[in-house]
Amino acid sequence: MSGLEHLIENNRKWVAGITAERPSFFSELGKQHTPKYLWIGCADSRVPANEIVGLLPGEMFVHRNVANIVIPTDLNCLSVLQYAIDVLNVEHVIVCGHYGCGGVLAAYNNLRLGLIDNWLRHVQDVRDHHHDIIDKAEDEVTARAKLAELNVIEQVKHVCQTNIVQDAWQRRQQLRVHGWIYGINDGLIHDLGFSVQSSTDFDTTYPEVLERYRD
Ligand code: CO
Repeated sequence: MSGLEHLIENNRKWVAGITAERPSFFSELGKQHTPKYLWIGCADSRVPANEIVGLLPGEMFVHRNVANIVIPTDLNCLSVLQYAIDVLNVEHVIVCGHYGCGGVLAAYNNLRLGLIDNWLRHVQDVRDHHHDIIDKAEDEVTARAKLAELNVIEQVKHVCQTNIVQDAWQRRQQLRVHGWIYGINDGLIHDLGFSVQSSTDFDTTYPEVLERYRD
C-alpha cells in the first residue's frame, strides 16, 4: 500500500472518461506532439495550466516554477523555451502569473524561507525596479497585485530578450509572447495587454504598457 491508491484510481476514471468520448484519443496522442502554446506559469497548485484554459493533453507545452520567473541563467526554462520554439514550433508563449502568489508575497515582504529566497531575489529586483509604481498603491494587497502584474511584464520582457525568441523573429517564424494574470479567487484570467510579435513591436509596446501603470 503506497497511500496513493486513490490517485491511481482517479487516473483510471479519467482515462475511461476521455476514451468513452474519443476511443482513439491516447493512441493518436502517442503518434504526434504538436502543441500550439507554451505556458510559463507559477508552480502554485491552484493554477493548473491546462485545466484553466480548457486544454487537453497534447495541446499545451508547460513550464512552471515558483513565481513564473524567466532568467537567462536558468538552463531548465531556456531548454523548454528553445525546444518549444525550435522543435515544436509553438505559435504562442504565455507567461501567466497570479494574484495571491506566495512567491510574490515573500519577495514583497523580504520573508526568510530558505534557499528559495535566492530565487525570489528576481521578484525583488522587479519590486525595486518599479518601486515608483508599487509605492503608489493604497494598501499592501494592491501593491502585491501590482508586483505580480509587473513581474509578468518583466518576465515577458525576458522571454522576448532571449536569443531563442530573437532568432525566431529574425527568421520570421510566427511567434507571439503574451502576459496574463490569473485570479485564484475567481478563476478568471486577465490579459495584461502586453502581447509581442517582433523585436520592433517589443520596443514600442513595453514602454506603452509601463506608461499605463504610471497614469
Ligand atoms: Co505563485
